[in-house]
Amino acid sequence: MTALEAVRDVGRVQAGQRVLVHGASGGVGSYAVQIAVALGAEVTAFCRTRHCEAARVLGAAHVFVDIVGGRRLKEIRGVLERDGTYVAVGGPVDRTGLGFIVGLLARTVYGWFVPQRLAWFVTTPSRPLLEGLAELVDAGTLSAVIDRRCDLAEVPAVLAAQEAGTAGGKAVISVG
Ligand SMILES: NC(=O)c1ccc[n+]([C@@H]2O[C@H](COP(=O)([O-])OP(=O)(O)OC[C@H]3O[C@@H](n4cnc5c(N)ncnc54)[C@H](OP(=O)(O)O)[C@@H]3O)[C@@H](O)[C@H]2O)c1
Repeated sequence: MTALEAVRDVGRVQAGQRVLVHGASGGVGSYAVQIAVALGAEVTAFCRTRHCEAARVLGAAHVFVDIVGGRRLKEIRGVLERDGTYVAVGGPVDRTGLGFIVGLLARTVYGWFVPQRLAWFVTTPSRPLLEGLAELVDAGTLSAVIDRRCDLAEVPAVLAAQEAGTAGGKAVISVG
């Protein structure tokens, strides 16, 4: 739902636009890439090389969906079209979470003075978002990247792998 909201609703991606997804191999990013492709965009998937072969830069992006964060605004603006949109989805969070919030507020203020749109949001799960996802799954344009299938006893190991950043997609847990 976060990916759908980031790409379709906040990023307002249109067919033919160039979209950059930073953090493309992760839980949100792997869906964001597929959703942007389904909307007819030309997508640059950007992630660490252990999960991606290479990122092919296609030109300045119309929409930059940032799942990783930690990039300087100057860098972000450097890869965006003049009328482009930057969508902040996630980023490094310190112990109090204050640094993250201050960073988002700073971007909001900065956004008042630059031509690009700098947006951030927090997903509220909803029926319309789920229905939007279901439509893409039914159409065969969206599928889950499944890293492993396991039972309930293996959940601690799965969570440890996700925290360590070694998981390469979603884990499916069979219950009962
Ligand atoms: N706004 C919202 O409503 C909302 C909702 C859900 C999640 N989030 C946020 O979204 C973020 C990601 O969630 P997720 O579930 O997708 O996490 P995830 O599955 O762990 O994926 C993280 C992604 O970031 C990449 N990455 C990490 N460090 C990087 C670096 N230094 N340089 C380049 N790429 C890097 C990872 O690449 P590798 O695969 O190579 O490690 C991976 O593609 C979190 O901060 C989460 O809090 C926000």
